[in-house]
Amino acid sequence: MCIILVMDNDNAIGRGGELLCNLPEDMKHFRETTAGSVVIMGRKTWESFPKRPLPNRENIVLSRSVKELDGAEVFADVESVLEHVQNSDKRVFVIGGAEVYRQLAPYCDEALITRVYENFGGDVFFEDIERDRGWRLAESSALVETGCRKIRFFRYVRV
Ligand SMILES: NC(=O)c1ccc[n+]([C@@H]2O[C@H](COP(=O)([O-])OP(=O)(O)OC[C@H]3O[C@@H](n4cnc5c(N)ncnc54)[C@H](OP(=O)(O)O)[C@@H]3O)[C@@H](O)[C@H]2O)c1
Repeated sequence: MCIILVMDNDNAIGRGGELLCNLPEDMKHFRETTAGSVVIMGRKTWESFPKRPLPNRENIVLSRSVKELDGAEVFADVESVLEHVQNSDKRVFVIGGAEVYRQLAPYCDEALITRVYENFGGDVFFEDIERDRGWRLAESSALVETGCRKIRFFRYVRV
């Protein structure tokens, strides 16, 4: 499984239940990368999308409080999700948020990280992947300008 996320200089990934900012190039990257795949998310991330489900992807939502959703399969625990995706012939992405990244990161062998070079004062965070010896930087892109901001795409793999 692969993590995909965008974070700022402080490793923040969201604020007030929403993304930190609008990054058109990162959105495009996310759409193209996850097209045709399985995407796993927490109930709060699902609710943060203006349009649900994410089209052209198998949407999976983790929730203890919600049993059914239109356009998504709901699972009440991590073990059931892992069992469900185990035999999938599609790529599987963990798409957030913080709670779900934390629980599923140990099962992921790849992380696609977009760094936005700003500080947004976020309230949810991802781990400090640059300092984590369990991950190795495999690739990084050139600097990209999008929506008046500078971003870079990184690919980490499990050591
Ligand atoms: N920067 C990025 O790339 C990115 C990507 C995605 C999201 N985000 C941001 O992250 C924030 C949301 O993250 P979050 O950590 O607050 O919430 P979240 O991870 O999206 O969702 C948390 C919810 O998922 C359910 N859940 C979590 N673990 C579970 C488990 N083991 N079994 C069953 N259900 C489980 C629970 O739902 P119930 O309460 O229904 O039980 C829990 O309240 C938002 O600001 C969002 O914009 C950022």
